[in-house]
Amino acid sequence: MTVSTTAKLFSDRIGRIEVSATMAVTAEAAKLRSQGANLVDFGAGEPHFSTPRHIKDAAIAAIEANFTRYTVVPGIPDLRKAIVERHACDFGSDYAVDEAVFTTGGKLALFNAIQVMIDHGDEVILPVPYWVSFKDIIQYAGGKVVYLETEESENFRITADAIEKAITPKTKAIILNSPSNPAGSVVSPADLERIVNLAHDRGIYLLLDECYVYLNFTGAAVSGGSFVHAKEHVVVLGSLSKTYAMTGWRAGFALGPKPIIAAMSKLQSQSTSSATSFVQKASIAALTSSQECVATMRADYIKLRDRTLARLSEIPGVTCTVPEGAFYVYPNISAFLGKTGVATATELATKLLHEAHVVTVPGEAFGTREHIRLSYAVSHDDVEEGLKRMKDYFAKLG
Ligand SMILES: Cc1ncc(COP(=O)(O)O)c(C=O)c1O
Repeated sequence: MTVSTTAKLFSDRIGRIEVSATMAVTAEAAKLRSQGANLVDFGAGEPHFSTPRHIKDAAIAAIEANFTRYTVVPGIPDLRKAIVERHACDFGSDYAVDEAVFTTGGKLALFNAIQVMIDHGDEVILPVPYWVSFKDIIQYAGGKVVYLETEESENFRITADAIEKAITPKTKAIILNSPSNPAGSVVSPADLERIVNLAHDRGIYLLLDECYVYLNFTGAAVSGGSFVHAKEHVVVLGSLSKTYAMTGWRAGFALGPKPIIAAMSKLQSQSTSSATSFVQKASIAALTSSQECVATMRADYIKLRDRTLARLSEIPGVTCTVPEGAFYVYPNISAFLGKTGVATATELATKLLHEAHVVTVPGEAFGTREHIRLSYAVSHDDVEEGLKRMKDYFAKLG
């Protein structure tokens, strides 16, 4: 039998996406570290805190009790109940248990939601700067990304007016990520309400990535899920990763209309099945115990943000918007582009890594050319050391 050599190895859809830029930076930094480099790592988008003790204990107890088998695909009933009750308590939403699905990380909730909702040619509005994965996940589904530029002078804030202008007859969905990665911008409660109403009136779906919703520093955290009258067109994508310092556990969820949640669960049944059994028990502990750990971590992020902004302001030529949430700053480094050997943000981030041993992520990954992203979810000492290295490096660049 002869084997055909003309068969195409890869599907069209895998050719439509790129390796996550933040993962690429992490890999490059790991390589340098393995060669003995002492890096200050502002690259990874994850809390520097350890997972709180009571959450770890719940996982250990679940393993000891042999809670180690398959579970029902959308998550055990107590967990789905904990998700909807936490959300109702914090944001006044009104979801039933079968309007919630637990996933192996918030990214999978987003991926599954887009796969079940977006068809070839469907337009999805995506504000810029955007978190790296949105664009690729939409393109993987065959959707068309409609980029919505925001103004740096307006803190990259997304407004209802701007969204309204971007809507076309082909708009199927709008993605909002507030507080946002990478700029930490927050949609005001009034704009969020207008955007929800706009989507609802036009029959467009609003995909709300709220993985930083508890890291809102304005004192007025809102969820799109609070607008109960528009539930039919709102899908909330949540994550325990950042809220409870649980990135490696892979714990996320979606709240939305029952048919969409059922379709996401169907897709999950043919891919990952349920999330890890004992992670589900740990997640119940996270959601139902005291939320003091969340407030404590948030208070430290605010101090870290202020320290980072203060040190950045001491670097001549660097400007930075004031993030209102999440744990990133997105400084503008355009003053340094075009200088000796540095033409792009990617080149600058590469030089910072190799020559100053500071890990950052270039703005090209988030759809802008004149910025780098720093995650300040690191120790206060690392903020001081990393920003000192950057100041010295930029001084040399001139
Ligand atoms: C905006 C945004 N959404 C989703 C995620 C994914 O989080 P998870 O760890 O729950 O998959 C991240 C992680 O960095 C993120 O920044």
